[in-house]
Formats: sequence, C-alpha cells, structure tokens
Amino acid sequence: MVLTGAGISAESGIRTFRDNDGLWEEHRIEDVATPQGWRANPALVWGFYQARRRQLNEVEPNPAHAALASLEEGLEHMLLITQNVDDLHERGGSKDVVHMHGQLVTLRCETSGRSEHRMDAADLTDEFLTCNCCAEPQRLRPDIVWFGEQPMFMQEIYAAVDACDVFIVIGSSGHVYPAADLVHIARAKGARTVLVNAEAPMNIGAFDEVHLGKAGELMPALVEAWLSESD
Ligand code: OAD
Repeated sequence: MVLTGAGISAESGIRTFRDNDGLWEEHRIEDVATPQGWRANPALVWGFYQARRRQLNEVEPNPAHAALASLEEGLEHMLLITQNVDDLHERGGSKDVVHMHGQLVTLRCETSGRSEHRMDAADLTDEFLTCNCCAEPQRLRPDIVWFGEQPMFMQEIYAAVDACDVFIVIGSSGHVYPAADLVHIARAKGARTVLVNAEAPMNIGAFDEVHLGKAGELMPALVEAWLSESD
C-alpha cells in the first residue's frame, strides 16, 4: 500500500502546503479550505481552486509518478492512496488511485452531492458553474475535502491498511489526520513501513525504513529494488 502527499508532485511544479514556499503561507486555511470559508466568500474559494484546476494543464507527471505506475504493474496487488487533488498519478500511468481528499478535475453539485468531470476551457474561468444532474441546474463546488469534512473512501482505506504487508509513504509531512495515522495502524498490524520524503516529517518515528531526498530522484531506483526483492 502506498500513501502519497504533496511532496510527490513538488518536482512537477505544484506547490506543497507546508514548505517555505507552500500554499498555506499565502492563504489562511480557514478562508480557502473550510466549508465556513466557502459560505463566507465563495468567489474567493472558487477563484483559488479554479487557478489550481487551470494549473493542471501546465504540469506533467515526474519520474516518481512513473515509478509508482511501474510498481503497480510489477506487483500482484497494490493500492495507491493519495492526499493529492491533482491528476498526476493517473497521467503517470497508475490505474488504481484513491483520492482521499478529493480531486481537481471533478466538481460536485452542492444539492445532489454528485461529482462530474469538468475540465473544458469553459469550465476553467472564474465564473461559477452549474451542474448537469439537477432538473434546475445547481451551483457546483470544488470536489475537495475541506478541513472539518470527512475524507473519502475511509472504510476501504482502513480495510486495506489492516491487510497490507508493506506500507510506503511518499512526500507527506504527517500533519493532517487521519492520513498521518495510517502508518501507525499499518505498523501495529505488522506491516513494514517505509518513508520517502525530502525531510524528516512529524511522524518519522513510525517508519522502519527512511529515505530522505527528492521523490523524483529516489523513486525510480527504489522501485527497481523493491520489485527485484518481491520476485
Ligand atoms: P505538506 O505540504 O504538508 O508536506 C509535503 C511534504 O513533502 C513535506 O514533508 C516536504 O518535506 C516533502 N517534500 C517536498 N518536496 C519533496 C520532494 N521533491 N520529494 C519528496 N518529498 C518532498 O503536504 P501533505 O502532507 O500532502 O489537505 O499535506 C496533507 C494535506 O494538507 C493536503 O492533502 C491538504 C493539506 O492541507 C487538504 O487540503 C484537505
């Protein structure tokens, strides 16, 4: 099982959240990443996520994304969970990706809760958009899990964490729960725990094996080694 965070997309040019030049340096989390922020100033929140959706058209997957796609292909079973809302894992070739914090490529109807893929040029302006699911089209919101909301697919994720024999975390600071706790659960169940991160994160004590450095530089060789180990 693999859990990725913002660090895996950093070398593709997508800013992380908590590094020195991170997104949260410029924005108050409460303003742009909470239901209260959306209610108080939807135009600000919409503009923030529309800019991030437009950026998807300017970035490409990096060697770490490609390495994870090879890992999935070479293993009998692997589950990739990501905290990232970009689509770089899919574009890097990964087939089975669980986005626990939502996705940028989809938008969610505020009334029905249904998500739809909306990435045409007309979907990327700062104008609010409406859904295709309701008889009277309703406003769409970013399909993102905000602070104070439940991460998605948690039952499936906990079941997979319980069952996994290796749990690998790549590019996450270990600040945001419940994602940061998954490694503790995996370890308690006897999994080998592995970290690949630019610097020591909050939860470093939970890892059996630590590789400090850039994911795009480390991952291709690590995946090659893991695959030859699993043969
Ligand atoms: P953070 O920004 O908190 O942490 C990114 C981690 O990646 C840091 O520990 C960096 O040291 C590391 N890093 C940076 N560049 C790297 C590289 N090239 N290779 C490897 N590691 C690198 O991001 P997350 O842990 O993903 O949630 O943040 C978790 C959640 O907090 C996000 O999903 C988002 C945010 O608030 C929501 O919006 C709900």
